[in-house]
Amino acid sequence: MSKPTVTVIGSLNYDLVTFTKKVPEGGETYQADAFETHMGGKGLNEAIAVSRLSPPDSIETKMIGNVGTDEFGHTLKQYLIDNGVNVDQVATVEGSSGVAVILVEEDSGENRILITPGANGKLKPRDEDYEKITGSFVILQNEYPDTLKSITWLRKNRPDFNICYNPSPFKPELITSELLGGIDLLIVNEGEAKDVAQHLGLLEGQQEEANDMYALSQTLQKSINKSNIQTVIITLGSKGCIYTTDEPRFLQANKVDKVVDTTGAGDTFFGGVVSSLALGKNIEEAVKFATTASSLAIQKKGAAEGIPNYNEVTQNLLNN
Ligand code: RIB
Repeated sequence: MSKPTVTVIGSLNYDLVTFTKKVPEGGETYQADAFETHMGGKGLNEAIAVSRLSPPDSIETKMIGNVGTDEFGHTLKQYLIDNGVNVDQVATVEGSSGVAVILVEEDSGENRILITPGANGKLKPRDEDYEKITGSFVILQNEYPDTLKSITWLRKNRPDFNICYNPSPFKPELITSELLGGIDLLIVNEGEAKDVAQHLGLLEGQQEEANDMYALSQTLQKSINKSNIQTVIITLGSKGCIYTTDEPRFLQANKVDKVVDTTGAGDTFFGGVVSSLALGKNIEEAVKFATTASSLAIQKKGAAEGIPNYNEVTQNLLNN
């Protein structure tokens, strides 16, 4: 039997990260404690997560994206290669690579992120690029301009593919009932869940549902594609997540002694869920695995570099 393939379409960013006790207000200057560079971009993080969070050679992970002609672009692409991701469809385009300026608050590990798209802003796959996608899982987010076309093309031409979507950063202009109806796995945080439902008028006459994540998760689940995996996951940060295929279920987050850096935790979770599903695990197993993966990721610095590997996660699951 051939191994499953997961394709990620999206961004690659060079993350410029400052670790600080305080975040300055407008007009203020503070001295931070450390500056580091890390590999990032939601697309790259998700591709690394799928590759690392599966046993070696069990999944073919492919990335469709763009890097610039600068040194950052070379480094980002090489990082994917070193982590076993197929980069045949990562193009080098004239100009700068995507960059993210990130402030991480040391006490909480919480981040503030400003992205400049660079080459990601020029990612517009052609029909022949989509035609090359094989396998049954595609991961997308909103860090490139053509998410809508990707979802529309794939839904129309590859009805059996599981289209797995995290609408982040939230772009209201992209969210239509038709788009949501094309999604098989929707992963959103609390804010995005409310934004999607409110934007589509799914909460009309029942505003209290906006704060009831169980109800919201069911409402969203009724609006996604009616075939394939039909699952909505609302991530609740340090509380855990609610996942709904038929009935909504809650999984508590793992307890963590010290949160170091939350950057990329959501991408780690996303990659962990999809890699598990691609390997044939059920949604409950997938969510549990991904929850442990992201709890390990937030204890290390760096978006992509913080992502644990399959053995670390399974060992941690066994010990807890
Ligand atoms: O989700 C985390 C990522 O968001 C960072 O790696 C940064 O590059 C931004 O894209």
